[in-house]
Amino acid sequence: MTTAAPILLTPGPLTTSHRTRQAMMMDWGSWDERFNQLTASVCEQLLAIIDGATSHHCVPLQGSGTFAVEAAIGTLVPRNGKVLVLVNGAYGKRLAKICEVLGRDFSTFETAEDEPTSAADVERLLLADPSITHVALIHCETSTGILNPLPDIAQVVKQHGKRLIIDAMSSFGALTIDARHVPFDALIAASGKCLEGVPGMGFVFADKQALAAAEGNCHSLAMDLFDQHAYMAKTGQWRFTPPTHVVAALHEALLQYHEEGGLPARHQRYAGNCQALLDGMTALGLRSFLPGAIQAPIIVTFHAPKDPRYQFKDFYERVKAKGFILYPGKLTQVETFRVGCIGHVDAAGMRAAVTAIAQALQDMNVLEPLGAGLPAITGDAVPL
Ligand SMILES: Cc1ncc(COP(=O)(O)O)c(C=O)c1O
Repeated sequence: MTTAAPILLTPGPLTTSHRTRQAMMMDWGSWDERFNQLTASVCEQLLAIIDGATSHHCVPLQGSGTFAVEAAIGTLVPRNGKVLVLVNGAYGKRLAKICEVLGRDFSTFETAEDEPTSAADVERLLLADPSITHVALIHCETSTGILNPLPDIAQVVKQHGKRLIIDAMSSFGALTIDARHVPFDALIAASGKCLEGVPGMGFVFADKQALAAAEGNCHSLAMDLFDQHAYMAKTGQWRFTPPTHVVAALHEALLQYHEEGGLPARHQRYAGNCQALLDGMTALGLRSFLPGAIQAPIIVTFHAPKDPRYQFKDFYERVKAKGFILYPGKLTQVETFRVGCIGHVDAAGMRAAVTAIAQALQDMNVLEPLGAGLPAITGDAVPL
């Protein structure tokens, strides 16, 4: 395995295909009709993934995922609104921070990092505070990999006449979200996650009526999704310099997404990756942080080995030298590390990653010699 092109087992940026990277080899004029068609086609395909063409607009936005989350809250929550933020990890905390920075009133409801928010809790909180106008949650909380019960929470929010904002950054494209059955004002994701594009643009599926009523809400010129959409609808162009190469790469990534079989196939591959990872790591004696029932097939958090010879930085460098990039843990109480299941990689790649992890831990004298049932130590892993 060369260190020049490691497999990224991280939740984005992640490993992309050669075709996707190749699509960035051309320069595009931002006013050019062909580029406008590319943008329109990307938005249309993104909307189709949630079956949202009749109910929602797709509003793309330059920047990383957080830019789009901030834009959604800033645009869709009126200045006198109040957001109930559901937290069970770092990205939920970031939602609250965004509300604080933007000066939107908010309250938080926090559960443990291994405890999904329940719809019953949301109902109780909505009944207790009628001033809440919006509920914001993370679908798959990437800081652990926990899955929150989105459809149940969405129904409760709707029943109480409140609006829902969903950060589906690391789940969109791999886990089903159907806009015809899951009511929401905003669902936010980005180019460089489960669609396997490159990072650089986010997008917000905004309820058409909610967006039409959002004129003047936003605190910021560049983050105003009402303006961004209005300009794009009128001219076909992005309001400010578009991330042309990112759009071209996403268009190519979407072609491959459909060739693979769309969401069901993407989900199946990631679920296979996740299972291969869990099986291999369990055989090494490494424990995952979450029980299977609440583990999304996106990223897995593992307890770090207890051995004093284990240091994440050393471990990371050793695994990287074997061709795989891991992710540090993001928990405050327990020492962990994370391994992503998403990107242009399959179960064979995940098994090779487990082998690299086993070797690295052995080299650090942290693990006993590999047992007979473990994957072979030789051989390179290449993405798909
Ligand atoms: C659930 C979730 N929300 C928000 C973000 C923030 O995205 P970014 O780092 O691209 O700003 C991420 C990034 O992985 C995420 O997983």
